[in-house]
Formats: sequence, C-alpha cells, structure tokens
Amino acid sequence: RILILDFGSQVTQLIARRVREAQVYCEIHPHDVSDDFIREEMARGLKGVILSGSHASAYEETSMRAPQAVFDAGVPVLGICYGMQTMAMQLGGKVTFADHREFGYAEVRAHGHTPLFTGIEDFTNNEGHGMLKVWMSHGDQVTALPPGFKLMASTPSCPIAGMADVERGYYAVQFHPEVTHTVRGQVMLERFVHDICNCGTDWNMPDYVSEAVEAIRQQVGDDEVILGLSGGVDSSVAAALIHKAIGPQLTCVFVDHGLLRLDEGKQVMQTFADNMGLNIIHVDATNEFMSKLEGVSDPEAKRKIIGREFVEVFQREAGKLKNARWLAQGTIYPDVIESGGKKGKAQTIKSHHNVGGLPETLNLKLLEPLRELFKDEVRKLGVALGLPPGMVYRHPFPGPGLGVRILGEVKKEYADLLRRADAIFIEELRNFKDDQGTSWYDLTSQAFTVFLPVKSVGVMGDGRTYDYVVALRAVQTSDFMTADWAELPYALLKKVSGRIINEVRGINRVTYDVSSKPPATIEWE
Ligand code: XMP
Repeated sequence: RILILDFGSQVTQLIARRVREAQVYCEIHPHDVSDDFIREEMARGLKGVILSGSHASAYEETSMRAPQAVFDAGVPVLGICYGMQTMAMQLGGKVTFADHREFGYAEVRAHGHTPLFTGIEDFTNNEGHGMLKVWMSHGDQVTALPPGFKLMASTPSCPIAGMADVERGYYAVQFHPEVTHTVRGQVMLERFVHDICNCGTDWNMPDYVSEAVEAIRQQVGDDEVILGLSGGVDSSVAAALIHKAIGPQLTCVFVDHGLLRLDEGKQVMQTFADNMGLNIIHVDATNEFMSKLEGVSDPEAKRKIIGREFVEVFQREAGKLKNARWLAQGTIYPDVIESGGKKGKAQTIKSHHNVGGLPETLNLKLLEPLRELFKDEVRKLGVALGLPPGMVYRHPFPGPGLGVRILGEVKKEYADLLRRADAIFIEELRNFKDDQGTSWYDLTSQAFTVFLPVKSVGVMGDGRTYDYVVALRAVQTSDFMTADWAELPYALLKKVSGRIINEVRGINRVTYDVSSKPPATIEWE
C-alpha cells in the first residue's frame, strides 16, 4: 500500500486516482499524522509515501512538515511541489521565495538517469537534451540540494525542478505528475509505485466492492440506515452498494423538492422500488422547498436552504424508523475537496449541499461510502454492482437540482419552463450521433439547460415577444475538477434552439455557454 500525505493541494486526490489506476491500493491522510501512525502503516505493509503539494509556503519555521517517521521508515518517498520543498527542508536543503511564480505549462530538462525518468523524454531540445512537458504551479523553490541528493530536473527559472537520492529512495519533483497536462505523469507515478516501491498490481474494482461491503457491515452493525436517493449517479450507486451490504436495513427516502428533471420521480421509483426491490419512501416536498426559497437569490444561501431542508425531511422520516442511526449519502471526493473537506486544507469553492449543509445537531451518524472516489470510479463501481449501464452512465445531477440552474430566485414557473427546455436538449443530444455512431449525450460528460431570469425581445409570426432566455451547457471532462465546453455540432444546436423556442412558450432565446472550468465552474451557481 501507498500512503499519500496531504498538505492541502486542490489536486491531492488526483495523486490517489493515478495510483489506483496503476492498480495499487493507497490512502490519503492529513500531513500531520503522528509518527506512531506511520509505524502502524509500516506494520500494515506500507511500501511508499507520497507528499502532496500545497498552497502554503515551505520555507518558514512554522511551515507544515511531514512526520519524521516518514524518513525513518526505510520506504521510498516521493515529494511533489510543496512535498519536494518540505523534503528539502527536512533533509538539510534550502527553499527560497521565488521572484516569479511559475504557473502552467513548462518544459523541464531531465538530468541523469534515475529510475523515475530514464527513457521517458517527450522530445529532444536543440542541444540534444531530453525534455519533459509538465505542469508547474509554485511560488517558492528549492535552491540547495540536501546532502546525498542529485539534480534530476531543471528549467531556466527553476534550476532545481527535481532531485533524487536514489540510494535512500527519495525522489522529488517541483511539477505535478498527477495532472494530465504532465504528459508522462502517469508513467512517472507508475514507475514510482511499481519499480521503486515494488507494489504489485492487485487493487481493482471487484476487490473494492467486497472491501466496501465489509466495511459498511462493520460500521453499521444491526442499525438501520436511511439514504437520500436523488436518482443521480452518486446516490444511486451508494444505495446499491449499501443495499448489497445490509439489504433490508436500508431505507431510501426519495425527496421530490420540485427541482427535478422532467418525469424523474417516476423513473426513480421504477428503477429502485419496482426493479431492484429497495425500500423507498417517496416524499413530495415541493411546496415546502418552494416556500423556503421564496425571495432568496444568493447562490450560497439557496444551496444552504436546500441542504437544510433535505436534512430536515430526512430527520422527519428517520424519526419514523425506530432503529435508524445512520444517514447515508452519495458524497464523492470532488464534493469533499471543493467544500474544504476535513481531510485536506483546500479552500472552499462552493458548498455542495450534501457536505456543507449538515447542521452540527444532526443526530444521525454519517455513512459516506463513496467519499474517496471520483465520478468515473463511482460509475465503474455501479457497473460492478450490476446497475443498468444506462443509469450509471447518466450525466451527474447536482443535489440542489434545478435550484442551481435557475439563476437567482427560484420560482415554480421557472422550474416548469426549464424542465421542458432541458428535456428537449437532452433528447436531441441522444438523437445526434458522430461518425462512429456515438450519441452526443455519450460524447459529453454533463449537459443541461440553465434558466436566466431576464427577458429579451423576439419576433414570432407577426407579433413581438418579450420572453425568458435559456443557456445550454455541455462539457467534457474526466474528473469534473477541470472541464472544456463541448464543441457540439451547429446542426444540433440549431435543432435544439428551434425546438425550445417553438415548443416552450415563455422562452424566446437560446444561448450556448462557451466557458471552460476553470475559470468558470460547470454549474452556473
Ligand atoms: P461545478 O459547478 O462545481 O460542478 O464545476 C462540478 C460537478 O459537481 C456537481 N455539483 C453538485 N453535486 N451537490 C452535488 O451533489 C451539489 O451541491 C453540487 N453542485 C455542483 C455539478 O453538477 C458538476 O457535475
């Protein structure tokens, strides 16, 4: 197993993801675990440690450090960005504040022949040196190698961009091998875990299912569990996993907050109650949600209200189930990290309702079996659990539903218009295929319609119209942390806009969102 110590970088989980892609089991823990914890990890068969990046500075006395036991454990250590800097500081090197920040694409010269870099150059520069295309994001940098280390990589502005003490198994890079922009990043991480740490390739999804099932049984015992089923991928996979673990001890509450997609309620009941035999309580709380949202236009306030209402409805239903002790949620890793999750110290971007909205007074314990997984891992898990692929490969739908897709104040009238427009967009995405016959629904990771509460002038027949605007959003991404807008065919956009304007009275203008994440986010609120 590999231990990843998190110093609070936004991309720490990507390291775990790459390690898992290399079929090696790994866990992320905060950087300030005790020396004893490291020794316990050794007893559990620890093969190597990776120190993550951070937004903090490493050169101050008070800076975060890795536990000393990491360097005494006798296993290889890989430092990334901040992890490299703290490694340098802890082993007798030097880190200084850099004059210019280096951010984004960089070309790094690979020096020497360490097992990490040998023979994996991306190109040869005109001086004949092997070069790597990487992604850098740092202010400070290492300016003196610790004793025993040799230079492993450099750029003109960062002369020590990589260092290694091959004998002791210490490796460090200033760039980020875990992001896809570092072309050979996956190869480097595979080399670290396989060749340097000697980990086998024995971690896979079926193993994960049996481990997760066992962990849920241990955690829950004979208690009953209540789960908020939204019909989205995450809560559905969580429901299937927990159902596999504890069967009838699980009761799902399906809350219709009035912010679901067209006919979604019917479909959810059909799949889970009729076909899979889960216990489901269907609550229609539309009026309750709508009245609480009246007059509220701030996005964060809306999310918090929807989150709070959800929890209240759960608690009400849980109260009816005498032995319910657990509230299960389909929280996945990006929700955790983007809400400034407890484990790491990443900054809050949006408070996702299934993390940020939970009151301290909640008297149910939290069961979040997907907390460590990325979306595509959740999908693979769903398939391994036997869920229908059509449902597992459905685009994700956020917990607050159309509440974050109606900008500003939420009104039932807006939700009804948006539902119909969105259904047209999705239907046409499924109809239009590329040359290989793949639908544009499958070619995009997430696509939806956003309601803009502004009116614009149009002309229809002989008459002037003054109606609302919708924006179409379609993105391509593998992890939802970054995303590109999808280059949908004009013919598809034309068909969708024509149909929406003709079929949905009240909308007379359709726009297409051409913003990537970052700097935009996928949802508009
Ligand atoms: P953003 O807008 O942050 O979205 O780029 C990233 C992904 O997260 C989904 N999302 C949510 N999911 N509860 C959820 O369960 C939420 O509050 C929430 N907000 C955004 C979003 O749909 C996208 O897939």
